[in-house]
Amino acid sequence: MASDQYFDDDPTVPSSPLVVDVTLPDTAFTMETDRGVFSHGHLDTATSMLLRAPLPLATSGDVLDLGCGAGPIALAMARRSPDATVWAVDVNARARDLCRRNAERNALPNIVVAHPEEVLGEVRFSTIWSNPPIRIGKSALHDLLLTWLGRLTPAGDAALVVQKHLGADSLQRWLDGQGYACERLTSKAGFRLFAVRRAEESSA
Ligand SMILES: C[S@@+](CC[C@H](N)C(=O)[O-])C[C@H]1O[C@@H](n2cnc3c(N)ncnc32)[C@H](O)[C@@H]1O
Repeated sequence: MASDQYFDDDPTVPSSPLVVDVTLPDTAFTMETDRGVFSHGHLDTATSMLLRAPLPLATSGDVLDLGCGAGPIALAMARRSPDATVWAVDVNARARDLCRRNAERNALPNIVVAHPEEVLGEVRFSTIWSNPPIRIGKSALHDLLLTWLGRLTPAGDAALVVQKHLGADSLQRWLDGQGYACERLTSKAGFRLFAVRRAEESSA
């Protein structure tokens, strides 16, 4: 199912929990999902594409799942990098509660779930993975990405998955103009997966 379910992202609707089994080539976990949180009852197609890609992931230090929802990206990062601290950040309180419960359910103590404002200013991320909230609008999305990409370590990198019809290509051009090298890694089923790093690092 596609990211159009994002319109359901409202933490005030009545709860209706559904547990989903997620199986990836290298790991598996179960994940409670709920109404009012992105991708109720399933793993989003774009998220699945990101999690199945052979992306670099720091093995220690701080890494970030930006807009964690119920936490599939954070759960996979925490499984793959047990010595890293995985920050799972979301503005949606129900999403944060779900993600916290999902970390416990899968015995992953290296996930720290937080509201964006709770992440200490000095924390820098070696890896950022995100299925970002495109539907917050272009200006808010740009501010969000500049804020968090600005917190990459100098050699850090990000992976973003975006629907083509929601402006993936213009987002790529915009990031290129903001001092980031944004490389298209995969284009499949209407989605683009981008690797993003500081331009000066990628040309070094
Ligand atoms: C496309 S969903 C992805 C959710 C989850 N990572 C997944 O793949 O299933 C984007 C998420 O970003 C969150 N979000 C929206 N605005 C945000 C912001 N300013 N800061 C952090 N997260 C935000 C939404 O609540 C939503 O959970």
